Amino acid sequence: MDLAGKRILLIIGGGIAAYKSLDLIRRLRERGAQVRPVMTRAAQEFITPLAVGALSSGHVYTDLFSREDEQDVGHIRLARDCDLVLVAPATADRMAKMAHGLADDLAGAVLLATGRSVLLAPAMNPKMWQAAATLRNVETLKGDGIAFVGPMAGEMAESNEAGTGRMAEPLQIVDAVIDLLGGGPMPLQGRRAIVTSGPTHEPIDPVRYIANRSSGKQGHAIAAALAKLGADVTLVSGPVTIPEPDGVTTVHVETASEMLAAVEAHLPADIAVMVAAVADWRVATSAGQKIKKQPGEAPPPLMLAENPDILKTVGHHVQRPKLVIGFAAETQDVEDNGRAKLARKGADMIVANDVSPQTGVMGGDRNRVHIISAEGIDIWPELSKTDVAQRLAAWIVARFSS
Ligand code: C5P
Repeated sequence: MDLAGKRILLIIGGGIAAYKSLDLIRRLRERGAQVRPVMTRAAQEFITPLAVGALSSGHVYTDLFSREDEQDVGHIRLARDCDLVLVAPATADRMAKMAHGLADDLAGAVLLATGRSVLLAPAMNPKMWQAAATLRNVETLKGDGIAFVGPMAGEMAESNEAGTGRMAEPLQIVDAVIDLLGGGPMPLQGRRAIVTSGPTHEPIDPVRYIANRSSGKQGHAIAAALAKLGADVTLVSGPVTIPEPDGVTTVHVETASEMLAAVEAHLPADIAVMVAAVADWRVATSAGQKIKKQPGEAPPPLMLAENPDILKTVGHHVQRPKLVIGFAAETQDVEDNGRAKLARKGADMIVANDVSPQTGVMGGDRNRVHIISAEGIDIWPELSKTDVAQRLAAWIVARFSS
């Protein structure tokens, strides 16, 4: 998430390329940016504020003289409460207005008032781009320190013409934003990670199941932390009630067998972090119909069968990831059990934690873990599960860079 926490004021100008700005909003948000959209009157002829608002999950600013908007967030605040002003598409008219400091609409007022970096993604007919007036304006704007991405050469949307004038593609614009905001390549860029999280549910019959108290908080936080560092993360989650983390592909499963199948389907990977509290047993033959309570009869016996061990399977897999990390939820002898598990499961690291009831770890927000690896044992202080996730992600980065 190379734009995590960055606030981008996106001014959408009036051109057919405005349709690409809808995708641009998604691409920026995927990288963690907050996008606050301003639409010019002409932009609203091409795409609707409703669509822009839905994609940016917030208010769309359209009017310099809107009584509500100016009371709530005036144009001066819009111009200041951001890290970058991006104009996409930037029309010939907008650039002419900017070059002369015109502020007769909200976009113009914001652009004149802002002290932030400004990036333009021009889009226009090639003849308009080559026009002497436009070339003069571009030079003026560059002289004012305004950055440009594109326009690109290619076919025009509105005619059979080709030439330079196409708006840069959303991902090219995102790259230009990252360059301007100083985001470098992420340390886990290009690495694939699989994280398991949550409990599994093993059916007894269609309405009953065996499970455990795992909330999925730790696993989900680890998936999010790896994604923030640029990893391409697949989160295989058992049934949980917490939201899917941003920037992660989440696959939902119920049982241990389904979890194993989903994990194997996503190999090869560079990193596997198996956090799920997988049920050790499933019911050997789960009933197809609800088992009825029979008055006067003894309760039905439950025959259990062992579930596949996902961590052990991955730790000994022909496509074993370079880094395999497991968790060990223990209620006693945390270190000894953790060390034994390291060898048995073929893991590079076991994150062992004490889940005895008095610790409140199961379902809680905090965790105190012992890091067990070939290098020895490291005991971390009590931390939030998010902090444990971040430290673990930093450890993974260090492992890959050493
Ligand atoms: O053996 P134990 O359940 O204590 O091991 C815990 C570790 O093994 C965790 O990383 C858990 O995700 C993983 N595990 C698994 N499949 C199982 C049991 C545990 O992946 N069936």
